[in-house]
This record gives sequence, structure tokens and C-alpha cells, in this order.
Amino acid sequence: MKTVYGVIGDPIEHSLSPVMHNAAFRHLGMDCVYYAFRVTLEDVRDAILGAKALGFGGLNVTIPLKERALEIVNADPIAEEIGAINTIDFKDGIIGYNTDGIGAKRALKKHNISVKDKRVLLLGAGGAARAIAFQLAHDGAGLIIVNRTAPRAVKLAQDVRGVGDAIGTDMGDLATLVKKVDILINSTSVGMHPDVDKTLVTADMMHPDLVVFDIVYNPIETCLLKEARKAGALTIDGVNMLVHQGAESFRIWTGREAPVKVMEDAVRCALKR
Ligand code: ATR
Repeated sequence: MKTVYGVIGDPIEHSLSPVMHNAAFRHLGMDCVYYAFRVTLEDVRDAILGAKALGFGGLNVTIPLKERALEIVNADPIAEEIGAINTIDFKDGIIGYNTDGIGAKRALKKHNISVKDKRVLLLGAGGAARAIAFQLAHDGAGLIIVNRTAPRAVKLAQDVRGVGDAIGTDMGDLATLVKKVDILINSTSVGMHPDVDKTLVTADMMHPDLVVFDIVYNPIETCLLKEARKAGALTIDGVNMLVHQGAESFRIWTGREAPVKVMEDAVRCALKR
């Protein structure tokens, strides 16, 4: 009998996780299938307990359920620290993980970027930013967290300071800050389809030694990445993060190394369609 996996969230119809994980299962000849399920905040507990009762292999959890879902599962220490989960494994109870941080780390590593002792400007202080911030702090980066709503950036920096070096501020001085850093990461939704002409940072604010990583993957080349290319900076697109967080979920569920290239090809192909 097939083992069922899935992603829960709302909205969910544009999720690329089914394409990505089903490509991996097919490639490895595993008798498994992955679906997307629209689940509202109000139903998240029933959905998770129901999936466990029905014998699901595991779940991904996405917007807006990541924080609420944490309260329902036994969370591993990293997810607990971040305050949100994106992965649930049912093998041994209901265990919650957050693979977003490791996804960002591996996306950078694939491009031979180490964050140790680097100055990193992180745009955003939402759920994705929290996961990335803790990972980068654990890995020895010095963080400047910049957010439209400044108190969220200040709070995240405070939380992260238990682990590493971080300050939080508003967007007022963005041009000066970008000049001072080695790596710029956009973890806001700015530039995401349909607002494809929006970016918080333009080429004139950047320098050629900068690495610019955008976690937005739709479109693949965001306005921020176009600007970075103009400035001669190294660019890393959001498909990298999507694939590597998914690969880590896959490893947690199945105990097997994920076929990362197959997953990436499936996602890029779906995005071009
Ligand atoms: P996610 O879980 O994907 O990170 P989120 O928690 O809703 O989603 O966070 C979205 C992030 O994008 C926030 O940092 C948000 O800034 P605010 O905290 O000020 O809301 C940021 N963001 C969204 N739209 C933005 C915009 N137009 N300009 C600047 N930042 C924006």
C-alpha cells in the first residue's frame, strides 16, 4: 500500500512541494505519493492528528500554520528555538522539525559560500527569517536584521543573541547597511508574483563582492536578483532554498538521501511552465 505524504497550508494550490517530492519518490522507485491539502488555522490540529491516524508518512506545514502546528507536535530543539515547524514525522509519535534554516545553509554551501565570520544583512523578520537567522547565528555569521516593522527585527535579534551576534533595525538606513555587508538575504515576500517589479534593494546600493540570496522563487529571477546581476554580485535564487529544505524533510521521513538534482529539475521545469 502506498505511503501518503503531504503539505498543509492555506492557500496551497500553487505549492510546488507535490511536484518536487513526487519526482523524488518516482526516481527512487518508492511506493509513496505526496498531495497538497488546504487546511485552515482552525482545523490544523484535526488535520495533523487525522494524518497520523490515517497512517501518513509525514507532512510539510506552510503558511499560515507553521507556528500553530508547533503547539500540537513534539518539537525538536531547533524548531522550538525558532518557534515554528515546517515538517512533521509520524514514525515515532508526532515530531515537528524546521528545515528552513538548513535549507538556506545548504543553498549557500552549494555556491561555496560559508557564513562564518561574514556580515549578513537579513531582510525580514517573519517565520522564514527566524529560521534563517538562527541557522546563520549558529554558523558564526554577524547578523543585521532589517524589517519594515522595526520591533519585529529588534525582537528577532534579541532572541538570536543567545546564539550569536545580531542587531535589529528598520529600513531607514538600508543603502548604508548594504555597503557594509558580505551577504544580503531577502526573506520577505517582496518581489513575489504578481509584484514582480518590486525590490527593497537596487543595484546602486550594492557592490560587486556582495552575495545576494533571495528566498522568493516565483519568479525564479526576482527583481532583486536582476539588480544584483547588474551590480556584478553573485546571485542565488529561491529554488535552491525550496529544494534543500524539502530534501531535508525527505531525509527525516524516509532515512534516505534525497535526489536533490531530480527535485530541482522538477521545480524549475514546473516554474517555467
Ligand atoms: P514568512 O513566514 O514567509 O516569513 P511572514 O511571517 O508573514 O511570512 O513574514 C513576511 C515578511 O515579509 C515580514 O518580514 C514582512 O514585514 P513586516 O514584519 O513589516 O510585515 C515582510 N514584508 C511583506 N511585505 C513587505 C513589504 N511590502 N515591504 C517590506 N517588507 C514586507
